[in-house]
Amino acid sequence: MAERMAQDGPHAFVAGWPVAHSRSPALHRAWLSEHGLAGSYTAQGVAPPDFDEFMCGLPASRFCGGNVTLPHKHRAFELVDEADEVARRLAAVNTIWLEDGRIIGSNTDAYGFAANLDERAQHWRDGDSALVLGAGGASGAVVFALLDAGYRRVWVLNRTEPRARELAERFGDACRAGSLEMATQLSGEADLLVNTTSMGMTGQPDFELDLSAARPSLIVTDIVYTPLKTGLLRRAGEVGLTAVDGLGMLLHQAVPGFERWFGVRPAVTDELRQIVLGAGGEQPGQTRS
Ligand code: ATR
Repeated sequence: MAERMAQDGPHAFVAGWPVAHSRSPALHRAWLSEHGLAGSYTAQGVAPPDFDEFMCGLPASRFCGGNVTLPHKHRAFELVDEADEVARRLAAVNTIWLEDGRIIGSNTDAYGFAANLDERAQHWRDGDSALVLGAGGASGAVVFALLDAGYRRVWVLNRTEPRARELAERFGDACRAGSLEMATQLSGEADLLVNTTSMGMTGQPDFELDLSAARPSLIVTDIVYTPLKTGLLRRAGEVGLTAVDGLGMLLHQAVPGFERWFGVRPAVTDELRQIVLGAGGEQPGQTRS
């Protein structure tokens, strides 16, 4: 990255629309400060009609790379010169960098999801069967991570069932699709249950799931992190299940990008969690850059 390093350090960004609610600037600036690094990480509000121009201008810009967030992740995938394997599977890019004037794209959401569980519920990798609620952009990353970790049966359940089917078909035989109404019944045979819908977010209704059939070893996790403890996680905790919040996914997905742009692999600590939580944001958060 040396060729992109200005005297005042490398410059990275998060590009989204809207972008004011992004917690990524607080997160990356905390790491820059912790490591005493010169450099910057700034929010770039890029409206959809301007995104192609923004990407095309990157090689000649001051930036060495950055994050791409909603609604640009798919278009970014189409525009990069090269995408790594995860980004190709998900047809979405959330982390980009420049190499010899070419834009390279990756997707670190699946990594972030897995790293959060590795930290908080290590035995998740022993699981065989998972239930994924929701079939939006984040759901694909979660399914990828589950199959990569060795899960042999992944159910994708969604309010709009055709969307679940479309997603499941992309991942082959191990992945099945269904409606949200099937969640209670299927929870009885699951090792891991993941909410990737926006239900449970501040201002949104909770997903009312009856967990009475669940195995005692079921791990319940949510990619929503505002509130940190969603209704689903609270209920899981009340019946003695392992419940893992979604903030760690946001923090961990940022690690590979920071390392690439600034040359230091940063750590996810409790102090960082507090900084990012305190950074607030004008909109409720799901795991987004
Ligand atoms: P993301 O990229 O963050 O996953 P998204 O593509 O808008 O965002 O997907 C949001 C997910 O939350 C979808 O699975 C959506 O279900 P639909 O595909 O049926 O729209 C789900 N979702 C949002 N609000 C919901 C609600 N009130 N009840 C059930 N599912 C909901």
